[in-house]
Amino acid sequence: MSYSNIYKTSLQDSENFWKQQAENIEWFNFPKNILSYDEDGLPRWYKGGKLNTSYLALDYHVEQGRGEQVAIIYDSPVTNTKRQYTYRELLDKVATFAGVLKKLGVEKGDRVIIYMPMIPETVVAMLACARLGAVHSVVFGGFAAHELAIRIDDAQPKVLLTASCGKEINKVIPYLPIINAAIEEADHQVDACVVFQREIFQAELKEGRDYDWETIVNSTSQHTYVEVDATDPLYILYTSGTTGQPKGIVRDNGGHAVAMKNTMSWVYGTQSGDVYWAASDVGWVVGHSYIVYAPLIHGCTTVLFEGKPIKTPDAGTFWRVVDEYKVKVLFTAPTAFRAIKKEDSNGLLHQKYDTSSLKYIFLAGERTDEATYDWLTKLLQVPVIDHWWQTESGSPMLSNLAGIDLKKIKPGSASQSVFGFDIQILDADGNSLPPNTEGAVAIKLPLPPGCLPNLWNDTKRFKQSYLSQFEGYYFSGDGGYVDEDGYFFITGRIDDIINVAGHRLSTAEMEEVLASHPTVAECAVVGIADELKGQVPVGFVVLKSGVEILEDDLEKELIQMVREKIGPVASFKRAVVAARLPKTRSGKILRKIMRHLADGKSFNPPSTIEDMSVLDEIKDLLKLKKVGIEYQDR
Ligand code: COA
Ligand code: AMP
Repeated sequence: MSYSNIYKTSLQDSENFWKQQAENIEWFNFPKNILSYDEDGLPRWYKGGKLNTSYLALDYHVEQGRGEQVAIIYDSPVTNTKRQYTYRELLDKVATFAGVLKKLGVEKGDRVIIYMPMIPETVVAMLACARLGAVHSVVFGGFAAHELAIRIDDAQPKVLLTASCGKEINKVIPYLPIINAAIEEADHQVDACVVFQREIFQAELKEGRDYDWETIVNSTSQHTYVEVDATDPLYILYTSGTTGQPKGIVRDNGGHAVAMKNTMSWVYGTQSGDVYWAASDVGWVVGHSYIVYAPLIHGCTTVLFEGKPIKTPDAGTFWRVVDEYKVKVLFTAPTAFRAIKKEDSNGLLHQKYDTSSLKYIFLAGERTDEATYDWLTKLLQVPVIDHWWQTESGSPMLSNLAGIDLKKIKPGSASQSVFGFDIQILDADGNSLPPNTEGAVAIKLPLPPGCLPNLWNDTKRFKQSYLSQFEGYYFSGDGGYVDEDGYFFITGRIDDIINVAGHRLSTAEMEEVLASHPTVAECAVVGIADELKGQVPVGFVVLKSGVEILEDDLEKELIQMVREKIGPVASFKRAVVAARLPKTRSGKILRKIMRHLADGKSFNPPSTIEDMSVLDEIKDLLKLKKVGIEYQDR
């Protein structure tokens, strides 16, 4: 069947369609209800169906005779380590670690926070939680103690799992000081921490609270999988919202497993046994879905890469991994290839390797710019597929479907809707817009299986953040348009979220930090265009009257505060003092205009602006301080 026929069926006969897709995974009890609605009127898929995600990812494959196939290839150029685990070996480790969690009192429904680097034990930890029906929440290692504390208070975990350190290109990042500070700051107290001691750095453990990973593993017996309901939560993943408080995206077990299994075939065109590599981090949704769950549920071999596209040791490292493990599909963010292109624009390092195993490149996290698309296509001679998704969806919503029928690629477009997603471009009143007219990207409800059913303990915020803007639709927060051939173009966020090197960050959160400096009266953080990272944040601060501080000193202090409160991942490197900020007459700061000024884009100032002359002041300031795309010779 062609894409368009399947797509139509997925919308017009959606329950039957999703019933058939559910048959592609192994249930303990096949769901009688395909779609139902909960007490809040929110759609739930497969209620009453019984399954276990860890069983699907491991035991099932061993039962099917795939036990000796490699499940995980761990490749860590930052620590010079390479290791492989078969499905049987991984199952063994996960069953034992499930025993450890059980011993520490973790039961079905309890939360476990995982603050760990890109090592196999992190995958073991996630799957062990899933095995018990416990809900994991992975926190990305680039976040600071304060961010971890916010998540501890919201998720209220029984146990925290961590490692002695993370490893960036040339620095070791001890984790225990971050863990200690977060536990100190949080109101909620965890019962225990389990610490994996890495060879590169040994942490000092706290008696009475911390357990050494290896010691407790060696004294524990294995635990089998627990049946859970399809609608039981598998994990919470916090993501940036438009306020200072991150949103706890909930993923359920049933819809997620169905989405993971099917997208591996539809979107990525893979079969069991293929080598699949998502070069991301398990702290992000891409890592949850396409480093861990989807490739394992589909019976692929997944690559767990602890390194960067460059400097580990050079810009040829991606090609080395593809060659060494015969990777079929590589998925990463465009920024990774911009980094490689910058260091090896002629692709000389690529020539050292045989990348003929590679069939497709998939990109997400931000729009793929045409220069990167052209460079990559020329270098690799394989389809380079831009696809669009969010933490909320857990899998691609727009993509060219390599496993169904790969259509012509239009650079700059994330192609067409994936099955089950009825994506529309709406005007402010919720009317569908004609082709080539930019508007808000929204999805007709119900969202298909795998998408967030709710926010953790916050139905009110869920409804207000996503469902209140357009009746009957989920609002994505992105703007875009669709062309006459049905190809969608995502043009960027229309709220105050920015994407820095494929990482989603909230400017509101950074503003909260800047505003807490004693000299700052008001501030605005805007994301401005950056050649490598796509966007970077810049802070504009107005000082309280009468305060005296050297601007360079203030900038250093603000940078340090953002590092300490949010983390280095924010890449907050610039703060400038402004006499005033552009505002509407009602006092709303015009952040979008500041961004346009910094990007050198033309725009029509809104008639509601309080005073036009402030725009020239900001322009002069940007020039003087060499902020923005035109002034990148800094
Ligand atoms: N733990 C601790 N610190 C971390 C970290 C982690 N897991 N990840 C990043 N950081 C730190 C970095 O060390 C850096 O710190 P610094 O300011 O002291 O140098 C800072 O956070 C910013 O990191 P990053 O955004 O990774 O920038 P970079 O300059 O080190 O590297 C790229 C730039 C483009 C090479 C890198 O961002 C990259 O590989 N991106 C790939 C995109 C990706 O994986 N996206 C995920 C979604 S698909
Ligand atoms: P995250 O939740 O971290 O995955 O970030 C989701 C956001 O990243 C989306 O709302 C978009 O703004 C952006 N994004 C992801 N993929 C793409 C893409 N292919 N094209 C344009 N923007 C994208």
